[in-house]
Amino acid sequence: MTVHFIGAGPGAPDLLTLRGRDLIAACPVCLYAGSLVPAGVLAHCPPGARIVNTAPLSLDEIIAEIAAAHAEGKDVARLHSGDLSIWSAMGEQLRRLRALGIPYTITPGVPSFSAAAAALETELTLPGLAQTVVLTRTPGRASTMPEGEKLAAFAATGAVLAIHLSIHLLDKVVAELTPHYGADCPVAIVWRASWPEQRIVRATLATLDAAVGAEMERTALILVGRTLGSADFDESRLYAVDYDRRYRPVGAEPRFPEAS
Ligand SMILES: C[S@@+](CC[C@H](N)C(=O)[O-])C[C@H]1O[C@@H](n2cnc3c(N)ncnc32)[C@H](O)[C@@H]1O
Repeated sequence: MTVHFIGAGPGAPDLLTLRGRDLIAACPVCLYAGSLVPAGVLAHCPPGARIVNTAPLSLDEIIAEIAAAHAEGKDVARLHSGDLSIWSAMGEQLRRLRALGIPYTITPGVPSFSAAAAALETELTLPGLAQTVVLTRTPGRASTMPEGEKLAAFAATGAVLAIHLSIHLLDKVVAELTPHYGADCPVAIVWRASWPEQRIVRATLATLDAAVGAEMERTALILVGRTLGSADFDESRLYAVDYDRRYRPVGAEPRFPEAS
């Protein structure tokens, strides 16, 4: 018996890895994390599968579900939205499973910041503008932030920020970031990236408040940085004709010429 942790992606049912889909289809038990895992993903569960929404459960109750499946020798598909490496609460479940000696695997998923960048048709790292993306959040009821992890500290670097779990604190975010990025810095909010009802607001730090509608609650990502929507950036050296690199040495035949 194995518990398969699977990143269920940002919302669109087809933004799921093939491995994730096949594991879901093979598991007689599926535990999924609340409203962010769409019905289309759950549709891959086999007929008769036990499908449990873990949103109302405590960690003890979730582990009890897994332990019951373990006792019956039934594999479990454990679904969390996006990718498992950020804000999935997988860490505490893994620690319990290790203590109980219950085997597990981990299958990554498409994170919401990638889906949001795709929706914006944007490369977040553009030469000369920004080469770093910070995935962060503001403190919440369930999670405090470590002392050094202040928005202002990240903003001081000029990196692109992908701010999760914070749409309800938009005013505070704008106030903290404006001194560092400037009021004209581009911002985008992507609400429910990849869902049919996806919405995008593009603005600057100065105009954001007026641009955001009241219905943009909860599942939204705030992206801030100079690369958003910019056409004014350097070309990468990677494809420059005079750039000498292993597979395309300057002045020599390509190492792997195309078949004619
Ligand atoms: C608990 S975190 C989960 C993050 C997830 N593990 C990931 O890889 O993106 C939930 C937050 O992720 C962001 N999020 C998740 N899905 C999203 C989507 N489809 N569109 C926009 N933001 C999303 C929102 O900021 C939301 O508050």
